[in-house]
Amino acid sequence: RILRAAALTLAAVVSLGMLAACGASGEDNRQIIRIGHNQSTNHPTHIALVAFEEFIESKLGDKYNVEVYPSELLGSQNEMVQLTQTGAINFCVASNSLLETFSDNYTLFNLPYLFSSSEAYHAAMDDESITGPIFESTKQAGFEAVTWLDAGTRNFYTVNTPIETPADLKGLKIRVQQSPTNVEMMRLLGGSATPMGFGDVYTALQSKIIDGAENNELALTDNGHGDVCKYYSYDMHQMIPDILIGNIAFLDGLSEEERAIFEEGFDLVNQVQREEWVSAVEEAKDRAQNEQGVEFLYPDTKPFQEACASMHDSMLAEHPDLAPIYEAIQAYNEQYPSGES
Ligand code: GCU
Repeated sequence: RILRAAALTLAAVVSLGMLAACGASGEDNRQIIRIGHNQSTNHPTHIALVAFEEFIESKLGDKYNVEVYPSELLGSQNEMVQLTQTGAINFCVASNSLLETFSDNYTLFNLPYLFSSSEAYHAAMDDESITGPIFESTKQAGFEAVTWLDAGTRNFYTVNTPIETPADLKGLKIRVQQSPTNVEMMRLLGGSATPMGFGDVYTALQSKIIDGAENNELALTDNGHGDVCKYYSYDMHQMIPDILIGNIAFLDGLSEEERAIFEEGFDLVNQVQREEWVSAVEEAKDRAQNEQGVEFLYPDTKPFQEACASMHDSMLAEHPDLAPIYEAIQAYNEQYPSGES
């Protein structure tokens, strides 16, 4: 938050960028490509986007100058999606959760217990017949998803209440992402959903406005939530990808050759981020346990799953057109059942 408050406003960023682009003597005519995200510079997503910056500049450096803005410098995720829609910035990383408010189709990947294992999740997300129809569905809203990033498994963590069963969530205020699916999930699990942006969670935990939150392990270390929350409970309720989205007018304005290079760059983002993800989660878990004193709990996930199972049928009833994609995901779930990871 302090970072954000002290950060350059978008207007300042844009005008600074324009100054840099023109240069005092007007020699630098490269187009600036701005990419925003809400993670720290240690995070796999930042490392992957820096690899993208280097790749694009190595191929098209005379034309484009890529700038990666971490840590909500360009605003919250919701704000960055809107900036990407209007073309004020070119790309941002947004959690799939938020995108369901821009296109209903994204609701699918937000369902609790949609994937039976991380192998099933990865295989489904790598299958373009599954992601394609969803990724393209925001074109009319001004942006397109160009690749997905791993954000692991979301689990509950609290300041001082070990969560062993859904009943333990009763009466607790739990921060969720700003998405109708997440609010409904909390309702079914019995907790009290408190939607807010990611950057506000640390202060809300510290000031006891909320009793806990839910996220992957990196939130404990990278975002400091493990300094306040001492119980992290592997109920495994969601595997929600992060999505790199790009402004549609910018993408459509690229020549065919440039687009091919950008596509290669998007694949690189996916590959680097996923490689970095595996070790980042291990390190986060180790640090949380040994330096922050977080206790990891492994409850029976079944009661949690049963509590929100009805969401699958409701989603299919509301979006019958998503049924074939849902079925294709079930085929991966059969191929990679739980317990194999
Ligand atoms: C994860 C995810 C982010 C998201 C955050 C959240 O960190 O990678 O994209 O913003 O969770 O809970 O809001």
